[in-house]
Amino acid sequence: MSDVPYRIYLSEEEMPHQWYNLRADMKELPDPYINPATMKEAKLEDLYPVFCQELAKQEMDNETRYIDIPEEVLNFYKIYRPSPLCRAYNLEKALGTPAKIYYKFEGNNTSGSHKLNSAVAQVYYAKQQGITSLTTETGAGQWGTALSEACAYFGVPLTVYMVKVSSQQKPYRKAIIETFGAKVIPSPSETTEVGRSILKKHPGTGGSLGCAISEAIEKAVTTEGCRYVLGSVLNQVLLHQSIIGLESKLAFEKIDEYPDIIIGCAGGGSNLGGLIAPFMQDKLLGKKNPYFIAVEPASCPSMTRGKYVYDFCDTGKVTPMARMYTLGSEFIPSPNHAGGLRYHGMSPIISKLYHDEYLNEARAVEQTKVFDAATFFAKYETILPAPESSHAIRAAIDEALKCKETGEAKTILFGLTGTGYFDMQAYMNYNEKKLTDYIPTDADLQKAFDLFPKIPGIQE
Ligand SMILES: Cc1ncc(COP(=O)(O)O)c(C=O)c1O
Repeated sequence: MSDVPYRIYLSEEEMPHQWYNLRADMKELPDPYINPATMKEAKLEDLYPVFCQELAKQEMDNETRYIDIPEEVLNFYKIYRPSPLCRAYNLEKALGTPAKIYYKFEGNNTSGSHKLNSAVAQVYYAKQQGITSLTTETGAGQWGTALSEACAYFGVPLTVYMVKVSSQQKPYRKAIIETFGAKVIPSPSETTEVGRSILKKHPGTGGSLGCAISEAIEKAVTTEGCRYVLGSVLNQVLLHQSIIGLESKLAFEKIDEYPDIIIGCAGGGSNLGGLIAPFMQDKLLGKKNPYFIAVEPASCPSMTRGKYVYDFCDTGKVTPMARMYTLGSEFIPSPNHAGGLRYHGMSPIISKLYHDEYLNEARAVEQTKVFDAATFFAKYETILPAPESSHAIRAAIDEALKCKETGEAKTILFGLTGTGYFDMQAYMNYNEKKLTDYIPTDADLQKAFDLFPKIPGIQE
């Protein structure tokens, strides 16, 4: 066995003091947002009614390579960061692979996932601007939990629109968000225009992230001193999540290693974008050539079966339109236990990198195979992974098994984004062999593709 420890920890002093903005090194930038009111390129000011100013600036900033992490945010980060880079010796042994498997563990904090990295930053900037309340949506509940913790810390009231099916499947998630003082409203709800109209169109719907986003935005723009915050997809969120990749790269430098394959699960793309950021920089600058894999659920396959077009980021069609891989903003995925991966679109940055073939591969996996990987991993590595994170585990195990066949000792890095202790219903269903693998048909997908927005001169 090598002398690489099981856990590679950085010290507090070694934690990066700046986020890295990948857009500054991209050969071509993602296409600009389009304002649906004017059908023209969205301007910075167009974002101000929805987002607080500093975050709107970060959203539009394609040039600044490194952005200082404010001291108050760094102080919060120190409660749970730097997070460990772990060597999966036990998993390697159980698989009998010559591959070296590493995972960056982001579930080692109070909220249980990487979502806290951006929640802290977003609430801090809102507070700085004198914003008096915030709204958001949550699917699986991880983002709502992280944001409620950050809001409690900074003393900012929060309303969370929680996808209805998740609030029913995960009462304890709802309870923890409420314990931190936030208000939870199952979505779609009767509290907003858009919620009422979605309920009229789809009575009995379990909701979707797209619906919940629309409701949270409506509430923000119709409430004095209120703004909306989003936990994924946006450029600003990928920026904050770059701390994951920056720390990973520093830890690899300590042990004189560099990953050959980097794998992340992909819902809206934030952990993946954060994990790959500094490694992608190396690739863009021609220094290294790691192989990047995005893993998504077969039930919500935005990258593998979606189209690279302009689309709304929400079902209510109030957000700016983004060019991204999308299944259509009206696509409502079947209930699936990887709740946090049930989003119709993909981060514009990740979409562009995939379209331009810098991000090498997107892979869709079925939920039973994901849970096979999750339970295998749990037994050997002793961490119960979140169903979302387990998509990355599935691909990491498959890559390690390929190495077993070829005899190659590749270095594999994957993002273990969170723990699954609030996902026990999913694990129970798996143990009782009740999980099903729903895969949408081409006809199902076509229905939502037919509703892509038309933009004169750009997308007819
Ligand atoms: C644990 C965990 N991992 C991954 C994701 C996917 O989000 P993203 O693609 O933004 O990282 C989620 C979303 O809720 C999550 O809760």
